[in-house]
Amino acid sequence: MSSFSAEWLSVREPVDHASCNNMVKRTLLDYLKAIHGKTLPNLSVIDLGCGTGSNLRGLAPFLGRQQSWTLVDYDPLLLSAAREALLDWADEVIVDDDQNFEIKQSDHTLNIKFLQADLMKSYADVLDKKPDLITAAAFFDLVSVEWLRQFAQALKSPLYTVLTYNGIEKWLPSHAADEAVLKAFIEHQQTDKGFGSAAGPHAAQALISVLQSRSFTVSQGLSNWALSNPDHQTLIRLLAQGIAQAVVETGQVVQGDVNEWLAARVRAEGCEIGHIDIFAAPALVPAVAPN
Ligand SMILES: C[S@@+](CC[C@H](N)C(=O)[O-])C[C@H]1O[C@@H](n2cnc3c(N)ncnc32)[C@H](O)[C@@H]1O
Repeated sequence: MSSFSAEWLSVREPVDHASCNNMVKRTLLDYLKAIHGKTLPNLSVIDLGCGTGSNLRGLAPFLGRQQSWTLVDYDPLLLSAAREALLDWADEVIVDDDQNFEIKQSDHTLNIKFLQADLMKSYADVLDKKPDLITAAAFFDLVSVEWLRQFAQALKSPLYTVLTYNGIEKWLPSHAADEAVLKAFIEHQQTDKGFGSAAGPHAAQALISVLQSRSFTVSQGLSNWALSNPDHQTLIRLLAQGIAQAVVETGQVVQGDVNEWLAARVRAEGCEIGHIDIFAAPALVPAVAPN
């Protein structure tokens, strides 16, 4: 299993929110309004691999005034960091005890549950809750193609998943080790992250294809990060360090070259990191004609 630091998740949060694909988000909102009505009343949402709750903070402002969320992650430290981050984000805390957590942000009231669960094993139980929407951010590249197939078989709700890494990176200015580093990083992205060999940069296309084979209508669009120094200095540094560490673990690039690459990348003018957003709507069950 891989672990993610709350610092990394918090540094990427504003860039993630700004990078989400507007066309895919619009398709999601139009779909939800067509099903639930314009004001999107009382939507229930389950966020898979929630980390510190970034995806909720990004999406909740677009949904109705009353929302119920279940945030799912296997990491108890991230779940408690999520609770803290949501307390900071809230304008008002309505209830915060062992049984209930309800906050108000702007004119949205959110009832939030935190569920510690390993989605490798328990995705079916989570999907069986049949929420109005399943969401995820930066999660599906961790899972295997076989897991995606089983997940799609069990999925009955609409799915909105953002920021799945697609393996396309452009750094400026270019560096002699870019190609070797990216190749090794992509290899590392496909190692086991707790779900068997990870789909990594192939995850979005694999997910789209299994959902389409189950007659979901799928919309997709790019949600690339466009980072520049010094505006995104910390994110560029943490990103380059994470890539360098992963590349060293593969043993594919000699340490000296990785060190040089890292030193250059921390000072890079900027980079573009490719991601894909997906919204998938289940086929409507035809109404049974009255006798
Ligand atoms: C890249 S982070 C993204 C977090 C969050 N969605 C965000 O956008 O900030 C991936 C998340 O998936 C969670 N995760 C990874 N494997 C998991 C598993 N088997 N079951 C549940 N959560 C898992 C991690 O703990 C982490 O919070």
